[in-house]
Amino acid sequence: MRHLTEISDFSVAEISQLISVSKDIMTNPQSYIDAMRGKVMATLFYEPSTRTKFSFEAAMQRLGGSVIGFAGPENTSAVKGETLKDTTRMVSAYADFIVMRHYLVGAPMEAAKVATVPVINAGDGGNQHPTQTLTDLVTISREMGRLDNLKIAVAGDLKYGRTVHSLVKAMVRYPNNKFYFVSPQELKMPDYVKELLAEDQYEEVQSLEDVIGDSDVLYMTRIQKERIEDADEYERLKDTYILDEEKMKYAAQDMIVMHPLPRVNEITEDVDKDPRAKYFQQAKYGMYARMALILMLEDMKKRGQHDIN
Ligand code: NCD
Repeated sequence: MRHLTEISDFSVAEISQLISVSKDIMTNPQSYIDAMRGKVMATLFYEPSTRTKFSFEAAMQRLGGSVIGFAGPENTSAVKGETLKDTTRMVSAYADFIVMRHYLVGAPMEAAKVATVPVINAGDGGNQHPTQTLTDLVTISREMGRLDNLKIAVAGDLKYGRTVHSLVKAMVRYPNNKFYFVSPQELKMPDYVKELLAEDQYEEVQSLEDVIGDSDVLYMTRIQKERIEDADEYERLKDTYILDEEKMKYAAQDMIVMHPLPRVNEITEDVDKDPRAKYFQQAKYGMYARMALILMLEDMKKRGQHDIN
């Protein structure tokens, strides 16, 4: 059974295929309206979400399938003490796909061990967010025309921001990408991500101004309030980076600004009208990326494929 719990569950070739399928869906949406007719997706969200949950649900419905699920475990048997494994076994009997977001690192990976249908990680704690990365890869490929030879600045909460962990894991597989990790000292990129890179492939800096002029992609993130235990520390760090019109003057004309959203304060609204601001477009690409993912997992299931790892 194929799952997507880490971005490395898909090979580079499979990701290229996913990008082309999502492009085809954008141009020929009518050809796909019945592709998942009769299929059911379960969205098990143990943590808040707007985009990820809605884009998965919209994706499944635009393919003609339907959706069951919950947003917040308060009304489920989790409060009675049902284990994640039991919930997963049971939902496997009702649904053809399980999409899971969880506050615990590794929860979707645990679920995948007992599920009899594909499990998709929609974000596990401060760890990984592979479908955001598929969204990001579709965005970069559409907007920059390539996934290699890029200078990518990722700024904000690199410690707890799961989207950037998955993004770096994905982009390191394409030739000649370089990274600027822009963060306060307290929120640096974890070692397990940096270990994937050669020493000359990344630079850690604290100031956005130092790197904005030399970046092809600027990926902003919010400081993860819910994962920082000390409230004073959050208050002190929350406005470390604020991208505004003034700073955009230092960026190249063909650079793009991305953000997984939600933004809190890290990009001012005056940047929204800048043609280089792609974050709302990025959210839209997310639905197409997820449509392509559902189609591919279904196809892999039919062909009886096993995990590539
Ligand atoms: C991200 C997440 O949940 O990790 N949001 C999303 O899925 N687009 C980013 C965040 O919450 O900061």
